Amino acid sequence: MQIGLPFLNGIAGKKRNQMISVDLGSRTTKAVLMERRGEIFALLRYVLLDAPIFEKTLSPELLAEHLKAVHEALGAKTKFVTLSIGVNDAIVRPVELPQIPVDEMRLVLKNNTRGYLQQDLPNRVFDCHIIPPKAPAKPAEPGKSVAIPKLKVLVAGAKKELVNDFQTAIRDAGLVADHIVPGLIGPANAFELAMPEAFVNDSVALVDIGFKNSSICILQQGELVLSRVVGIGGDKLTAGLAEMMNISYAEAEGIKIGMAPEIQSTLETQVLPLGRELRASLDFFEHQQDRPVSQVYVSGGTARSELIVQMLHSELVAECKSWNPTASLQLALPGQQAVEIEQVAPQLTVAIGAAMAAF
Ligand SMILES: Nc1ncnc2c1ncn2[C@@H]1O[C@H](COP(=O)(O)OP(=O)(O)OP(=O)(O)O)[C@@H](O)[C@H]1O
Ligand SMILES: [Mg+2]
Repeated sequence: MQIGLPFLNGIAGKKRNQMISVDLGSRTTKAVLMERRGEIFALLRYVLLDAPIFEKTLSPELLAEHLKAVHEALGAKTKFVTLSIGVNDAIVRPVELPQIPVDEMRLVLKNNTRGYLQQDLPNRVFDCHIIPPKAPAKPAEPGKSVAIPKLKVLVAGAKKELVNDFQTAIRDAGLVADHIVPGLIGPANAFELAMPEAFVNDSVALVDIGFKNSSICILQQGELVLSRVVGIGGDKLTAGLAEMMNISYAEAEGIKIGMAPEIQSTLETQVLPLGRELRASLDFFEHQQDRPVSQVYVSGGTARSELIVQMLHSELVAECKSWNPTASLQLALPGQQAVEIEQVAPQLTVAIGAAMAAF
């Protein structure tokens, strides 16, 4: 069951045939055009564009222009868009809530964010995804009254103003906002589709290394039990390289992507802090649940570098590999894209996973 958690759910039961899914990264916008074909999904086209600005939040006007450019580059006929919110702008947490309807859950959360989410979160919209209980509840012993068990719920929250701005921008771009979802759930949804067996059976960590941030989600037999955001991504790696080698950021970026062997040890120093942060999350889970994470699956732009993934592997002392979010998709890409998809795929993970939330 794919995690939905839409702050905006335009379809409410209606199934779209085609969908544009846009992952607004802090450095690179990733978008995919997907199509439902019976039981399977096809990837028709993708696009990577520089984010309009990557320091401040976008104005709706700028975002509208950007979305127009994305739509054009995709050559899409459909106007339905799913937009994912960056990991820093939308929280996702497992919470225990009483057995009440989802609409009431939203209100309960809104009125007591401190109680349920351990922080004040004013002016937020919330959505809830009820985690299906694993074992059926035991029948009550006759004559004994039992407390009604609480529900495990995955809660997502984002600023109302941001969701409104996104809706405005999509409309002003001449498109139709179908879903607005937290980007954090992208890797989990894409993983369920691409590796259904590992999803159902294993305890895995999904790490998405972005530009400014990286996220880690731990899935225990399909249940998202922990998620964290770490303020280290590809940007820090490049900036660190530039400083250590006394070269410009642009040069360092070129060297990082070209992966000259002589910079390996310098780069390793930069990967270290990220590895440490991720290891802390793994430790937290492993102590709490008393079981190891069997595998770390890495996505995001940085996962395009096999060498960096290997460095993380030695840092984390856990099996670490990149994976292919398109594994279960039918690839119906035009010429050059069909050739390059293998390289690009890790960077499309969030966009593909968010599309799955909407289909
Ligand atoms: N082949 C490669 N080797 C190493 N790094 C790469 C490669 N290709 C892209 N990157 C890095 O990936 C980063 C961009 O990744 P991505 O698109 O996942 O980030 P983002 O989604 O824009 O950021 P965020 O998720 O933090 O908002 C850049 O820092 C870039 O240097
Ligand atoms: Mg990203």
